[in-house]
Amino acid sequence: MIRSVVRGFGAALPKRVVTNRDMEGIVETSDEWIIQRTGIRQRYIAGEGETTASLGEQAARAALDNAGLTSADIDMIIVATSTPDNTFPATAVNIQNRLGMHHGFAFDVQAVCTGFVYAVTTADAYIRGGLARRVLVIGAETFSRILDWEDRTTCVLFGDGAGALVLEAAEGEGTIADRGVLTSHLRSDGAHRDKLYVDGGPSTTGTVGHLRMEGREVFKHAVGMITDVIDAAFQATGTGPDDLDWLVPHQANRRIIDGSAKKLGIPLEKVVVTVDQHGNTSAASIPLALAVAAGDGRIKKGDLVMLEAMGGGFTWGAVLVRW
Ligand code: ACO
Repeated sequence: MIRSVVRGFGAALPKRVVTNRDMEGIVETSDEWIIQRTGIRQRYIAGEGETTASLGEQAARAALDNAGLTSADIDMIIVATSTPDNTFPATAVNIQNRLGMHHGFAFDVQAVCTGFVYAVTTADAYIRGGLARRVLVIGAETFSRILDWEDRTTCVLFGDGAGALVLEAAEGEGTIADRGVLTSHLRSDGAHRDKLYVDGGPSTTGTVGHLRMEGREVFKHAVGMITDVIDAAFQATGTGPDDLDWLVPHQANRRIIDGSAKKLGIPLEKVVVTVDQHGNTSAASIPLALAVAAGDGRIKKGDLVMLEAMGGGFTWGAVLVRW
């Protein structure tokens, strides 16, 4: 039975760090307010020449190095992003070209903060279906470019960055002891559109638009949606919180992360948290967190790792991986 095994990981951040103190000079806010409500202490903001594709390329190169591979070994690139360099061509094709890769195929997926969970699930389906053998799965965002920098209720929350995994086809016995993606559970419900959206686009306003959010409404739904898909992943594999080595959540907000872990009975020592350092980087947050925790030796080969996210749409989902 074919499984999609993690062969490498990598990440990239913009050069410029913007602390909460720096934010105090931009909008009427305070370090205390931001930390208490979100857990965020700083975020990285893309400067001139730094784009979603350039950050994605850097993360992809780091993941290829980590895997001991080159772009010649890759046959598919999938990029999760809501902040592409251009409306088209896809950021994935841009990154393919930047990597000097002119074979295979590349495309983007757009599921906002759940984008990386959707992208891993899609890559896994292509690998198991025999359409690809080695896939670069990238989450890359420059949310700073769609923020309303006069709206303190949103601009303090987000940051820019990118992360990547190399997934590779491998034979397994078909048990939960096998390395690789074990199960995926995706959901969406467009009825929640107005709670988190961008107020522009090529087909409506002809502008890029700005992110708009009813923060309390998002918060109200987040924990329930996240815990539902994680429960589904546990049930599908006959596993539970005790079997889990790491929970790697989408890094939106410390209170959502802690609330979800508590509801599931997952101790906070098993939860990877980077929101304090990166802010909410949307589709980039999970691969960034994976690169941090696998890079510092916390996540080890054979560990059982749950990825989960919830975001605009709403979209939400969970993937269980034997690392
Ligand atoms: N600094 C200081 N004060 C602020 C700020 C700020 N940056 N932003 C809002 N306030 C004020 C409000 O104006 C309000 O003042 P008022 O009482 O005088 O009217 C007060 O703080 C409380 O505002 P609320 O919106 O009720 O604050 P809340 O406790 O709900 O926290 C937050 C806001 C952090 C956005 C919270 O609702 C939240 O975490 N929501 C989840 C949203 C989220 O994480 N979205 C990320 C994208 S979706 C995803 O990735 C899952």
